[in-house]
Amino acid sequence: MLAMDYRGPKRVRVTQKPMPEIKHPQDAIVRVTRSCICGSDLHLYNGNVPDTRVGSTFGHEFIGVVEEIGSEVTKLKVGDQVLVPFNIACGQCAFCKQGLFGNCHESNPEATAVGGIFGYSHTAGGYNGGQAEYVRVPYANVSPTVIPEGMDLDDAVLLTDVVPTGYQAAEMGGIQPGDTVVVFGAGPVGIMAAKCSWLFGAGRVIVIDQLDYRLEFVRNYAQCEAYNFKEMEDPVLFIKKTTDWMGADVVIDAVGAEAAGNTMQTITGRKLLLQAGSATAVHWAINSVKKGGTVSIVGVYGPTDNLIPIGNALNKGLTIRGNQASVKRLLPRLIEHVQNGTLNPKALITHRVPLKEVAEAYRMFSAKLDNCIKPVLIP
Ligand SMILES: NC(=O)c1ccc[n+]([C@@H]2O[C@H](COP(=O)([O-])OP(=O)(O)OC[C@H]3O[C@@H](n4cnc5c(N)ncnc54)[C@H](O)[C@@H]3O)[C@@H](O)[C@H]2O)c1
Ligand SMILES: [Zn+2]
Ligand SMILES: [Zn+2]
Repeated sequence: MLAMDYRGPKRVRVTQKPMPEIKHPQDAIVRVTRSCICGSDLHLYNGNVPDTRVGSTFGHEFIGVVEEIGSEVTKLKVGDQVLVPFNIACGQCAFCKQGLFGNCHESNPEATAVGGIFGYSHTAGGYNGGQAEYVRVPYANVSPTVIPEGMDLDDAVLLTDVVPTGYQAAEMGGIQPGDTVVVFGAGPVGIMAAKCSWLFGAGRVIVIDQLDYRLEFVRNYAQCEAYNFKEMEDPVLFIKKTTDWMGADVVIDAVGAEAAGNTMQTITGRKLLLQAGSATAVHWAINSVKKGGTVSIVGVYGPTDNLIPIGNALNKGLTIRGNQASVKRLLPRLIEHVQNGTLNPKALITHRVPLKEVAEAYRMFSAKLDNCIKPVLIP
């Protein structure tokens, strides 16, 4: 089968790989029909995630058709069209039982933080991902969900990560009616976080990025304010000024380790790899939220230290929340939001690329060329 293949930082290609096989009675094999490239894949692509092994296949946002099932799979049958949440969850451990499907203790037993994730390095369990023609899906009775009749497949593929992640970012902000919410990052995740902030009763939503085409998109799509940090002297000062010097009630970091905007962070985090990526967005978030406010982090950072203003976080009495989205927990209500038109995720898809052109797709998405917001690979 054709599959994406990681060769080292900024080097990916498509190649022939052996077909995945059922290894456990609860496995399913899915023939992929759509698979996205995510901002999270850029951390792998840039070599910022520990234990990303040459020869692995990325891809944690995919949908497809069930080709084969193990003897203990009861919830799916061959031929079902399924959307597969990016977290691999056993459904049985103490964390899964709390709804923390992103922190499953069984799917990634070597780790203390994150659970298993498709196509996301051996740090996240070493599973091959869905940027391929076929993929092995473990614990097939737990998270994979049959795509509801009539749902557009472009909406379905975005329900595997982007929609639940944006929604959970807003949810973790604990938004109260009338709150001012600032979202750093106007990628697919930030766009969806801004859109979902209104569902929790926000009174004002402000998005900050550096790419005008994305700012324009989010302004229309999420009916919010959107500003370019390159046109500001200091984004923290800008937010303080626009909130009567109080600071925002809730700040969401939807940027993560690839953040631009601070040379020292870029050098220490991205060039020298002295910290787990550039912590510019989380730094700005801590300093621009009000005292007693909440910082919600969905932008991904590595496991080691960051040069973040942790003393300010303490002295301001902040609540900082973060996690990988628990897709399975959120799916029932998000499917409703998509079906009744409250959320229209497919509007984010700007590019459709054949799987065999995966290297070009990574290059374009990574460099943000051709006004790209979300590329989807079609095997
Ligand atoms: N927690 C989760 O479950 C989860 C799931 C999916 C993605 N993510 C993470 O969310 C983040 C965003 O993902 P995406 O797909 O939207 O990525 P993306 O790369 O498309 O978007 C990131 C955006 O941030 C902007 N940016 C860079 N530096 C900035 C700064 N200092 N301030 C404001 N904006 C800045 C970029 O211009 C870009 O538009 C990534 O870190 C990704 O790993 C987390
Ligand atoms: Zn993703
Ligand atoms: Zn579990």
